[in-house]
Amino acid sequence: MADEWARYLRQQAELGGREVIVGHRAGSSDQAAGRGTRDADPVEPAPPATAPTASRGLNAESGPADWRKGAPPIPGPGISVEPPTASMDEELSELATLEAVAAVVRGCRKCPLCEGRTHAVPGEGDPGARLVIVGEGPGQNEDQTGRPFVGRAGELLDKILLSIEVPRASAYILNIVKCRPPQNRAPLPDEIAACVPYLHRQLALLRPKVILAAGTTAAAGLLRTRKSLGQLRGQVHRYGDVPLVVTYHPAALLRNPNWKKPTWDDVRIARQLLDA
Ligand code: URA
Ligand code: URA
Repeated sequence: MADEWARYLRQQAELGGREVIVGHRAGSSDQAAGRGTRDADPVEPAPPATAPTASRGLNAESGPADWRKGAPPIPGPGISVEPPTASMDEELSELATLEAVAAVVRGCRKCPLCEGRTHAVPGEGDPGARLVIVGEGPGQNEDQTGRPFVGRAGELLDKILLSIEVPRASAYILNIVKCRPPQNRAPLPDEIAACVPYLHRQLALLRPKVILAAGTTAAAGLLRTRKSLGQLRGQVHRYGDVPLVVTYHPAALLRNPNWKKPTWDDVRIARQLLDA
């Protein structure tokens, strides 16, 4: 916990040193920096109705902002990872469609998270999507419905996507783990290790133009790094030959609207890469 707190403060410092905590419960500092905090948290206070002006691009009240206006330039290269090759997981590489992967996910018993699930959440979207968003794992609403990002964090994600003119239905939404961790805790290394081959197979089938990793768990899972989110932002990483942009998890933005402005920058970088 002390570690997590230190990391959180470090990330705040990297963002300009203004430490603003909004809707932050004691004892949940590990969730502030882009992990956990999946929706359906009954003690979560509502975010302020008006966010700082700098983040206006992610507040729909005044109508769509033009994402091109003031968009940051595409930054330089970061980490490169090679996705696992088909021969590394022959069983999964035989699954020829997203639906086939989803069917296996729904019956999966590779880790203890299956015991607590109502529904597995394989992911959803346009199989021809150019943008794939990767989150952490299902929360309560997702577990109930079998669909990714359908709670409050999901509503915010939809807005973020709209703000860069990517309707949710035209993207594809995936998670690092497909079953809900108890109490929405972050998934454990063993759970991630058991589940992430599905994600790699899904990405191999989707062959997106750009990947957006939302939050620490997604970034660490895809880039196999222990760097902080603050260290991973502002670079274009590579997953095979696919550019990968790291940003805050939408649930983290609900707790800390200060992160909306950097997120708005990150997604506008991703948006430019879609056109590149
Ligand atoms: N337009 C915006 O400016 N922000 C949103 O979140 C959605 C549309
Ligand atoms: N948070 C996530 O990381 N994924 C979801 O699907 C929903 C909330």
